[in-house]
Amino acid sequence: MAVVTPKSGEYHRIRNRNPKLSFDENYPISWHSTIPEFACACNAVSLLMPHVEPFVVRSVERVADELPDDVRPAALAYARQERQHHAQHRRFNDRVFAEHPGLGWIDRLMATTFRFLDRRSDEFGVAFAAGAETIAYAGARWTDDRIGTLFTDAEPTARRLFLWHLAEEVEHKGAAHDVWESFSGNRVKYVLGTITSVMVLAFFAFIGTLGLLWTERRLFSPRAHWNLLVWSVTYVFEFMPLAVVSALPGHHPNDLADPVYLPTWLKTQVDNEL
Ligand SMILES: [Fe+2]
Ligand SMILES: [Fe+2]
Repeated sequence: MAVVTPKSGEYHRIRNRNPKLSFDENYPISWHSTIPEFACACNAVSLLMPHVEPFVVRSVERVADELPDDVRPAALAYARQERQHHAQHRRFNDRVFAEHPGLGWIDRLMATTFRFLDRRSDEFGVAFAAGAETIAYAGARWTDDRIGTLFTDAEPTARRLFLWHLAEEVEHKGAAHDVWESFSGNRVKYVLGTITSVMVLAFFAFIGTLGLLWTERRLFSPRAHWNLLVWSVTYVFEFMPLAVVSALPGHHPNDLADPVYLPTWLKTQVDNEL
């Protein structure tokens, strides 16, 4: 087992919050008035959450008893946050599937994929979780730089769902890394877990977005494809340096400078109400 630097205070940073979101039967799934393709991309990511997040929770909880005392509390707090994330996304996704029942095949394909991944080793599971957290953290940094452009015309409940989720991704950015480092520390497996995570998440985000563009009758919109291309390329430039740095010995996600808006938003818009 690898030696891990104590993460004092980490556990208290990772809070379990219920953002109190309501998605009734009239909730508009096309929730962006000026950039509808952005809602399609976000909704595609949302469809993934009830699959990928339970998988990382299972992967972390399976090894929890073997983690050192200074890592386990933060790992369990992280798992609690991810549970709340996918519970809220599942409710949101119910509206997506109610409006677009033809997308059910994507959900079934994701379920099959994660059932397959579940049969891999515990070491693979924690490496995948650490890689997925790098992807999520890059997503938070990418979004933080574009909050005004992307979320000004968003419907408030959807805005709250995605900002709350991304802000908590920043909050628990180091937890899965600590689990991987304490349980395994195998850098080759970490890279393989990250590559698998990137491929699975990118594939489903891609086909989910295409499916949603089709159902929203925007599949042949040049503007939608241009925006999606620009977002994808700029996200890759955000993610790649983080992925490389994360694979280097001695790196810890807590060394990275956090984005400014999302943590402030979480404090003022959610924590103040709890
Ligand atoms: Fe999450
Ligand atoms: Fe996360």
